[in-house]
Amino acid sequence: MTDQIRTEVQGNIIIIRLNRADKKNALTGDMYNGISDALDQLENDPGLRAGVITGTEDCFTAGNDLVDFLNSSGIGGESPVGRFLRTLPHLSKPLVAAVNGPAVGVGTTMLMHCDLVYAAPGAKFQMPFATLGLCPEAGSSLLFPQLIGYRKAARLLMLCEMFGAEEAVEMGIANEVVAAEEYQALAITKAEQLAKLPPRSIRVTKQLLRKGNEEQLRAIMKLEEDYFTEMLQGAEAKEAFSAFLEKRKPDFSQFS
Ligand code: COA
Repeated sequence: MTDQIRTEVQGNIIIIRLNRADKKNALTGDMYNGISDALDQLENDPGLRAGVITGTEDCFTAGNDLVDFLNSSGIGGESPVGRFLRTLPHLSKPLVAAVNGPAVGVGTTMLMHCDLVYAAPGAKFQMPFATLGLCPEAGSSLLFPQLIGYRKAARLLMLCEMFGAEEAVEMGIANEVVAAEEYQALAITKAEQLAKLPPRSIRVTKQLLRKGNEEQLRAIMKLEEDYFTEMLQGAEAKEAFSAFLEKRKPDFSQFS
């Protein structure tokens, strides 16, 4: 158990808070396991009907901890990331995200598996997998082109451009931009609303909304997992991670 993931049960909902502010809530293996434990609790406790995932006041998450990535064996199998990426898309109960500040890497891709997303004006989304010598994960290589079209997906997943809360709403990645003082409270209110509705009806609706994509999503996530795990050991990723930790620009000129 890590105190960098805090969970709180309020009536019929569980609130999951990423809590490692000094490292921008970058996710370690222990933190992925903490989130998966909380999602399992939501799934298995009949008293719980909805969840909220959020960060600290001004930061959602800087994505996977890059130091962890340097020593990681991959994102598949029994790895903490693998467990998280299996658990989240299979959650049958609704999950609401509240985002402010950086939502990088899995901080953005996990939102595609949430049902409602509320963003504060300071939210900044980015999926810098390609610039890190990696490739998309969490089904993002399927879900983003489906949602926003190929051109925009290429801008976000190849150029890895950052985008803000307004654009996230325009693209359908977030529902609404909400003042920084209110975005977490609104997400909790929406989760409470969901928790008051007929629970089976909500679960079946969620299942049906996602059913059409199930096979394709499973196939692409397996492909992403294989590439990602292999590329994590590659020279391009090593250069990108070292550059980040040494606070310099990466140099990919030697690669073909
Ligand atoms: N892994 C490990 N440490 C991270 C991290 C990450 N993903 N993101 C931030 N940190 C650490 C920084 O190294 C720094 O640590 P230090 O104070 O010991 O030097 C601390 O968190 C604060 O980060 P900093 O970069 O100074 O904050 P910022 O507000 O200027 O920028 C980000 C915030 C999120 C834009 C920037 O930290 C960033 O780009 N992080 C990397 C994101 C990333 O590539 N994630 C992986 C996606 S797969």
